[in-house]
Amino acid sequence: MLEIENLTLKYGQSQILNGMTLSAAPGKVTAVMGTNGVGKTSLLKAIAGRHPYAGGTIRLDGKPLAHLGAFQAARAGIAYVPQGREIFPLMTVTENLEAGFACLPRADHRIPAEIFDLFPVLAEMKDRRGGDLSGGQQQQLAIARALITRPRVLLLDEPTEGIQPNIIQLIGRNISRLREAGDMAIVLVEQNFDFAFGLADQFFVVQRGAVKMQTPRDQTTSEAILSAIAL
Ligand SMILES: Nc1ncnc2c1ncn2[C@@H]1O[C@H](COP(=O)(O)OP(=O)(O)O)[C@@H](O)[C@H]1O
Ligand SMILES: [Mg+2]
Repeated sequence: MLEIENLTLKYGQSQILNGMTLSAAPGKVTAVMGTNGVGKTSLLKAIAGRHPYAGGTIRLDGKPLAHLGAFQAARAGIAYVPQGREIFPLMTVTENLEAGFACLPRADHRIPAEIFDLFPVLAEMKDRRGGDLSGGQQQQLAIARALITRPRVLLLDEPTEGIQPNIIQLIGRNISRLREAGDMAIVLVEQNFDFAFGLADQFFVVQRGAVKMQTPRDQTTSEAILSAIAL
């Protein structure tokens, strides 16, 4: 269980997260919604140890993740698929995947067959350079690279952004499969409303760096969420 309480974050003098409180349970998809600039990416960066937070707490299974860097956060079980994918362009698909080994014990330095089962195109492309893949293939690689670390928490930042519809469907099916496995908390930041609404078990709507609405899927409507986002 990932629990975030009262999180604040600043870039220089400007405070971007203003006391963000949310939680994400294993076996569930937690959607974080909100218009551009409300702080969704900043939230994920704080959880993933990519940017220091100013105050509040982040706990994983009750244990505080106190200002860990990216490497320590990954070791603690947090995997981050950044907005814009951040594939290593000059490394092959296999090498991109192997980058995830850094935070695993040596005995786990192998690519599980399940990765290619989820994303078959990566097996076909395994010797290609990351930079030569299409946008949709890079997104699959970014998710696969995150899964290599066998995370407890998977953070996905706009995984459908700029991706063609058939790959969006594949990514959606794979998120459902990962949810069904039951042991991973999936945090999905999305501006593609239909995609998020179709997948999520609970929603947090963010405005100006704080949660403005929080609801389980079965106690809300798409209209209610859309109006909370637009407020
Ligand atoms: N590195 C940075 N330095 C200064 N301001 C930033 C930086 N990154 C993001 N911001 C600002 O913080 C706010 C939240 O950004 P972000 O977390 O990327 O929002 P979202 O992902 O919801 O679109 C925006 O106003 C953005 O301009
Ligand atoms: Mg963003």
